[in-house]
Amino acid sequence: MSGDVLFIVGSVRPVRVGDQLGEHIVKLFEDAGDARITMVDLRELALPFLDEPKMPALGKYEHEHTKRWSDQVAGSSAVVILTPEYNWGYPASVKNAVDYLYKEWKDKPALLISYGGGGGKRCYEQLLQVLGRVGMQLAETRVNIVLRDAYGDDDRLKDAAAIVDRESDVLIKAWQELQALIANKDEL
Ligand SMILES: Cc1cc2nc3c(=O)[nH]c(=O)nc-3n(C[C@H](O)[C@H](O)[C@H](O)COP(=O)(O)O)c2cc1C
Repeated sequence: MSGDVLFIVGSVRPVRVGDQLGEHIVKLFEDAGDARITMVDLRELALPFLDEPKMPALGKYEHEHTKRWSDQVAGSSAVVILTPEYNWGYPASVKNAVDYLYKEWKDKPALLISYGGGGGKRCYEQLLQVLGRVGMQLAETRVNIVLRDAYGDDDRLKDAAAIVDRESDVLIKAWQELQALIANKDEL
């Protein structure tokens, strides 16, 4: 394996649940073995809206934040993208993080996980198109986590561990597919 799996938390709101889900999904994947995982929280990464003067496809980056992001993605064996659904789409933070780079995504084994009140099926479909355009190799199993009735009065998840446990079969299936994609790429 060429590097850690990057687990990207896509929501950046001040009060959100992506971090809670991310923490428990990472734990589930780590317990399943097979990989080291590095969590990348887009809120902490804090990329500005794409501010590179040249097309990312040229790879001629000017800014340190872009070079760091490029190194992190290029050095990873695979990525997991955890995205919320906003108004039937994915958040601008996720699109921005993807748009910053280009060649780094090519042939990258990837697993997409959406969540939302209704599970985020629509944003999942939309983001699949974008990830396909940049050439990622996507695990086929769809993971759409329904969060209806899961919130407490503080707008956080009452029991994120229980939600991830409820979804663990499909999450592990998708994770194993991702491992197969990584192994397949390593053999080439
Ligand atoms: C601007 C906005 C739009 C939303 N639109 C949808 C939607 O279209 N479908 C859905 O299932 N949930 C929708 N929701 C509910 C979110 O998916 C839910 O609040 C989720 O917790 C958001 O992830 P986050 O808390 O990590 O930001 C929306 C939430 C926000 C803030």
